[in-house]
Amino acid sequence: MFNDIIKDRDVEQMDDNELLSLIDKERLPRHVAFIMDGNGRWARERFLPRIAGHQEGIESVREIIKVSIELGIKALTFYAFSIENWRRPEVEVNALMRLLEKYLQSELKEMMENNIRFQTIGRIKELPESARRWIEKAAHETRDNKKLILNMALSYGGRAEITDAAKLLANDLKDNKISMEEITEEFFAKYLNTHGLPDPDLMIRTSGESRISNFLLWQLAYTELHFTKTLWPDFRRREMLLAIIDYQRRERRFGLTGEQVNRR
Ligand code: IPE
Ligand code: IPE
Ligand code: MG
Repeated sequence: MFNDIIKDRDVEQMDDNELLSLIDKERLPRHVAFIMDGNGRWARERFLPRIAGHQEGIESVREIIKVSIELGIKALTFYAFSIENWRRPEVEVNALMRLLEKYLQSELKEMMENNIRFQTIGRIKELPESARRWIEKAAHETRDNKKLILNMALSYGGRAEITDAAKLLANDLKDNKISMEEITEEFFAKYLNTHGLPDPDLMIRTSGESRISNFLLWQLAYTELHFTKTLWPDFRRREMLLAIIDYQRRERRFGLTGEQVNRR
């Protein structure tokens, strides 16, 4: 691939149109997941309250959705609030919940116009009632939209998701709805929040932290990981194009040898 011979330095110097021309539309990731990290630091650098960083981060979400539609990516998952995030100061948690509600209120029309289907993963029952109502409304009204799946992870934890799946499965087994022999990896995955969604091909974490933070533990088994120092509020179109180019230069081997992969 001619992509391989272009050095990182050259890519960094290209303008957005040149970057776009490097992207192979036939080999796009179907599903991209994001750990949107660094909002607090972005705000602190500007002597602003943390919530200003979250607010600016929403602009990044809007822009990433736009560029993903432009490219033809079919599904996005955003880690917006983890189970562990409930332990943050109450003022921050409340402000985040209000922002979520406001986002859904203002974006629903746009989602309909752009053929976006909204859905969530996580323990949605733990969210405040008013946020939940907007989530249900958005999910319901956009359910037949086809262009892009916009999946928000809210009160989400990977271990919690797997534990909840195990409980549901155990219940079905106890009630004789399923048999032990039926339980395969594919079968188990149907009990996860993400059933119906392909596993992410690419996972991007911003802000320089190289960890998973309890995100999609099952689903990331063979996902390509892209870590960038850029803080989430600064992660915009150009950063996304660079991440896709990085992804397309990887060789996904799934346990095979390089020779086997290249022979296919
Ligand atoms: C990510 O940004 C957003 C959420 C976790 C809700 P942070 O709020 O974690 O920002 P930093 O890591 O403190 O900079
Ligand atoms: C991960 O970010 C969760 C979200 C982006 C919603 P955190 O900032 O909470 O992660 P840690 O605690 O630094 O690992
Ligand atoms: Mg953080």
